[in-house]
Amino acid sequence: MENDIIFKPLQFRNLTVKNRVFRSSISGRWDNYDGSGSQTRVNWEEKFARGGVGAIITSFVPVAIRGRIMPNYATIHSDETIPFWRRVGEKVHEHDCKFILQLSHSGRQQDIGGVENLGKKALSSTSDTESFHGFLCQAMTREEIQDTIQHFADGARRIREAGLDGIELHSGNGYLFTQFLSSGINNRKDEYGGSLENRARFLLEVIKAIRKEVGNDFHLQFKISGIDYNNAVIFWEKPGNTLAESVQICQWAEEAGADGVHVSTGSLFPHPLNPIGGFDFDVITRSYDTMLSSGIFTTRNYLLFRYGFLHPIFNFLWNRVKKTLPPQQFSGNEVKDPEMRKLLEDHQGRNLLAAREIKKHVKIPVLCTGGFQQASYIRQAIHDEYCDGVTIARPLIANNGLVHDFAAGKDLPDKPCTYCNKCLLNVTENPLGCYELSRFDNDYEEMMKEVMSVFHPTQFEQHQESSKVPVPHR
Ligand SMILES: Cc1cc2nc3c(=O)[nH]c(=O)nc-3n(C[C@H](O)[C@H](O)[C@H](O)COP(=O)(O)O)c2cc1C
Ligand code: SF4
Repeated sequence: MENDIIFKPLQFRNLTVKNRVFRSSISGRWDNYDGSGSQTRVNWEEKFARGGVGAIITSFVPVAIRGRIMPNYATIHSDETIPFWRRVGEKVHEHDCKFILQLSHSGRQQDIGGVENLGKKALSSTSDTESFHGFLCQAMTREEIQDTIQHFADGARRIREAGLDGIELHSGNGYLFTQFLSSGINNRKDEYGGSLENRARFLLEVIKAIRKEVGNDFHLQFKISGIDYNNAVIFWEKPGNTLAESVQICQWAEEAGADGVHVSTGSLFPHPLNPIGGFDFDVITRSYDTMLSSGIFTTRNYLLFRYGFLHPIFNFLWNRVKKTLPPQQFSGNEVKDPEMRKLLEDHQGRNLLAAREIKKHVKIPVLCTGGFQQASYIRQAIHDEYCDGVTIARPLIANNGLVHDFAAGKDLPDKPCTYCNKCLLNVTENPLGCYELSRFDNDYEEMMKEVMSVFHPTQFEQHQESSKVPVPHR
């Protein structure tokens, strides 16, 4: 391990992480409807800290109730949330793992608005309906933009007060920041739209407002879609930002005070390229009903998912761009099983070219997400300066202890993630976990036991443990 680059600490300006593997943002609907946190969330984050990752980036944490993607995700919209986040942070720290909170706002990409937002259109850079699900929205006024900037600054202050280790701005994957940054979405005529400089204004003003609130000595990174691929599914949409434009945004963000950048892709979530992998129609048909009333195209989509004879149409739209991807730059060490080798070649490190281009143009460390689960591949990506560290989501859901496997000298875990995306497609309705039956030797009970393990200990068990009355010695 001593000479292994995966286990070399990663030094940001204001934060040191013990190794190069970060848990990327992932969460289930673990928390209370009103955005207050639950014991299940604590258990969830602790699983990954125990598994050896250097840092955890939380899932989407809304800075305002109006900006959430769905209910039951813990928020950071008020000072009342600070004790909960402090509690999660303390648990994670027990495993020598850093905890970075992803400050977020859905903008128009709001899967399930929740009852508090009933009758309110989501806020966005634009009044144009989101192209895939048909979520309705209205363009923010200047005053609403200023209020939202303040929400981010307040969220940042709460993160610091909770004793967490840093902030990630969720400025990729189609959420509010992307809605400003992307030339495919932002159609404003004021100083927040038009030129790249204007489209980047909102992000840069948020970074500056955060720096004013928390100072220069607190870790702040941002996530960005290196390439938007805004017309990947709906091909008559504009393509959105190019890699060159994203490089420029990263340089401006660095100048404004960002300490790190996290490279992803896509102006939608999910997007055919993020997380890249399978699309199981049975699973999506079972869970998409939760979103039926959310958008004006959701009924159309549901029919496409529900009826087999329509699947070729959806598959054509969903898989179109994957075929145009450039070949992989390197394939990692030899994997003997040809099926596994093909899986890894098709999915691992798909954002690395974008990450390398960004890395050439900034001084801050660059993290890259997308398909990583093979030690030799990750080692080579870092060694060849494609990125400084990797972030992992699904392969860590499948194998919480992946980093311990790497430390023990394994190149791949015994039962790797298959990139089937059943975890993702279940998440709006069912607990988040690995739903790939083949990984559990086709034993459904075993699979459910693992999925449900996150609910233990329960809040009640925890409470009992901490309130045990000491028995006096005689
Ligand atoms: C169930 C699920 C939920 C996710 N939620 C978020 C999120 O809240 N914020 C975010 O930036 N990315 C989110 N992602 C994307 C992941 O963080 C990650 O970047 C992506 O899945 C690619 O990495 P992977 O191939 O290691 O899964 C989510 C992915 C999954 C599968
Ligand atoms: S369901 Fe399991 S195997 Fe499939 S992508 Fe998710 S974690 Fe990987």
